[in-house]
Amino acid sequence: MAAPVRIVSSREMRELSLSRRADGLSVGFVPTMGALHEGHLSLVRRARRENDFLVASIFVNPTQFAPGEDLEKYPRPLEKDLELCESEKVDAVFAPSEEEMYPLEKTRSFVEPGPLATRLEGMSRPSHFRGVCTVVAKLFNVVLPERAYFGRKDAQQVAVVKQMVRDLNFGVEVVVCPTVREPDGLAMSSRNSYLKKKERAAALAIPRALEAARRMVELGETRATEVAAAMAEEIVVEPLCELDYAAVVDPETFEDLSELEGEALAALAVNVGKARLIDNIIVAPGGSGPGKKSSGRAG
Ligand code: PAJ
Repeated sequence: MAAPVRIVSSREMRELSLSRRADGLSVGFVPTMGALHEGHLSLVRRARRENDFLVASIFVNPTQFAPGEDLEKYPRPLEKDLELCESEKVDAVFAPSEEEMYPLEKTRSFVEPGPLATRLEGMSRPSHFRGVCTVVAKLFNVVLPERAYFGRKDAQQVAVVKQMVRDLNFGVEVVVCPTVREPDGLAMSSRNSYLKKKERAAALAIPRALEAARRMVELGETRATEVAAAMAEEIVVEPLCELDYAAVVDPETFEDLSELEGEALAALAVNVGKARLIDNIIVAPGGSGPGKKSSGRAG
């Protein structure tokens, strides 16, 4: 098995992608912050199937963390990540240093994602999506992919990135992949490693809350506030969980809904110990939405 080319310089990465594209090969891209798990690997496997040349990036992006968040303690098992990339037949791993990505110390140009980025996650993390969009734009400019793969677990990130691609004419196809869960329903996340044993058990309130939302909507509840309140209730009864938000929103705009008509996004953010965990499913009256498929199930 050939080890992936490991690249730290943006110039080298661009040159490699340009030469592959000049050879007529399609370039697929999976951006990550490393600490790879089966969720990341599901993106890598799909991208491997759909592209000739596959690039994954590993970069813990400081501009998407606010002061006081977990930037310093974010796990960085680079050697293990490289081995996983090798076993998944990734062609190139772009793993730049912070200086390489933000050489001027203070980057002066940012991508502003607008109102979409002020809701849900944006309420709790006001500068988060500006940092995500900025780094994804930079990575797209360096990797020059035809397709880029993102996970639905970060549903608002998907919406913000798709909007940026449209608004700024990136010409990259954004491919969205289902949430991968542990057998007991907890969505996989690099941050699950922060959980102590009892916290890991308590975190199961998250998939329980999403399952409760699905059931209620399937049984005919159409008031979004009632569904959100039922999700919140599942979380607040768990002493080790601290609810940030439980919401039922429009899956495109992330605006609050009153009545559920078509598909809606049921979304949660919960602090458990030192981990801030997010998760979501699509719900639809009558259970007609993609949330019914096993890939979207919460539990
Ligand atoms: P990271 O959290 O490392 O996630 C990288 C990609 O893996 C994202 O698209 C995320 O949605 C996806 N992912 C994470 N957990 C998943 C799961 N359980 N199932 C399916 N997909 C999952 O998201 C980021 O990094 C960063 O914001 C990034 C886009 C790299 C920009 O810095």
